[in-house]
Amino acid sequence: MRILIVGNGGREHALLWKLRRDAPAATFFATRPNGGMADACTALDIAPTDVVALAGWAAARRIDLAVIGPEGPLAAGMADRMRQSGVPVFGPSAAAARIESSKAYAKDLMAAADVPTAAYEVHTDPEAAAAYIEACGAPVVVKASGLAAGKGAVVCETVPEAVRTARSMLAGAFGNAGSKVVVEECMEGEELSVFCLAHGEEFVPLLSSQDHKRIGEGDTGPNTGGMGAYAPVGFVTDALIDEVGERIVAPVLRAMAESGSPFSGLLYAGLMITADGPRVVEFNCRFGDPETQAVLPLLDSSLLEPMMAIAEGGGLGAQPPVFRDGAAVTTVLAAEGYPGAYPKGAPISIPAMDADVEVFHAGTRLDGDELVTSGGRVLAVTATDRDFRHARRRSREAAEAITFAGRRFRRDIGWREAERRE
Ligand code: AMP
Ligand code: GLY
Repeated sequence: MRILIVGNGGREHALLWKLRRDAPAATFFATRPNGGMADACTALDIAPTDVVALAGWAAARRIDLAVIGPEGPLAAGMADRMRQSGVPVFGPSAAAARIESSKAYAKDLMAAADVPTAAYEVHTDPEAAAAYIEACGAPVVVKASGLAAGKGAVVCETVPEAVRTARSMLAGAFGNAGSKVVVEECMEGEELSVFCLAHGEEFVPLLSSQDHKRIGEGDTGPNTGGMGAYAPVGFVTDALIDEVGERIVAPVLRAMAESGSPFSGLLYAGLMITADGPRVVEFNCRFGDPETQAVLPLLDSSLLEPMMAIAEGGGLGAQPPVFRDGAAVTTVLAAEGYPGAYPKGAPISIPAMDADVEVFHAGTRLDGDELVTSGGRVLAVTATDRDFRHARRRSREAAEAITFAGRRFRRDIGWREAERRE
């Protein structure tokens, strides 16, 4: 079996790690693999966004399964092109990927399907945006509609800050992604990430997890792609997951299918659990990063089997996903300056880890024999343990033991869960 992984971040390393366990005899290929993936796969020097070249290569090499990790290639039509070339692919069409690549599309879809989410308006004109911001009052959230690597949403504490943010987005601070802004009500509650394997109107949720979006401890400072995660989340009951399925995931999948853009792949519901129940913050059309690095180490059943079934159009596979008891805590190690500008090329030292600690690489590369930094989020270290507190401590200790110049990480990953358990 020949499996292609498109993408080279921490999420893709975790996908490779899990799929290798599911199919030890398979041959793996990855686009420009990072320093941690390199040993486990054959490197392909084609950019993950080069849709035409990659689909052509996959068809010629008779790839049995292409797994597309990041949103960029999906939004650019990579899955469509692979399907047209006869390559079984796990990932939605460009039309379905709009659920992430256009927040304006996602909000309109939710409104039409009566899915609970923040009240909003979409604007292209700064004066009209300012008028709606003033009508909402603060706090209020201003978002670039297009893809912005998890950094395009700003929770504004004052009206002038929100007006400034909308103006700067519309003036091009996020390039074309900000040519439309979504202004929305600020929701209060705890956030939750629910991943669903989905095909058409069928779906099955995976273990819930919680991300830590802010750069600073205590959830302070600017938003990032995600500084850490843990799974499962203590307050999540079967009843809550059923409610999310019935009120949120099912109506959205139905609306997409009915509008001629059915979803196939991994639908990520980013939720706020408010006093009025779960409401949608955002949808993503792919696995979350770093939540995947926390969720997959707890998945005992095969991921390959449902992925293959979905890629071949045969539903969700024979077996529902089975997760082991216990907890996983993932700490992201980032470069100094992230989420702003950061240096690259710092040598990294990773000591030997225990068997239940996995070091997933993100922004790393091999420079000869030496492992060096090459991105903002450099590594994600996951500890699994029967006990959440042990997993949390061991994830932090493992992060501490890894060194590179300018390394920074949050020592409080899982703080809400820790407080709940006190
Ligand atoms: P997004 O890019 O839409 O995922 O937003 C990034 C982060 O901004 C979310 O994970 C939340 O922490 C925060 N956020 C976005 N929208 C809202 C909202 N309507 N109310 C409160 N927080 C929000
Ligand atoms: N962890 C947030 C995301 O993947 O978008």
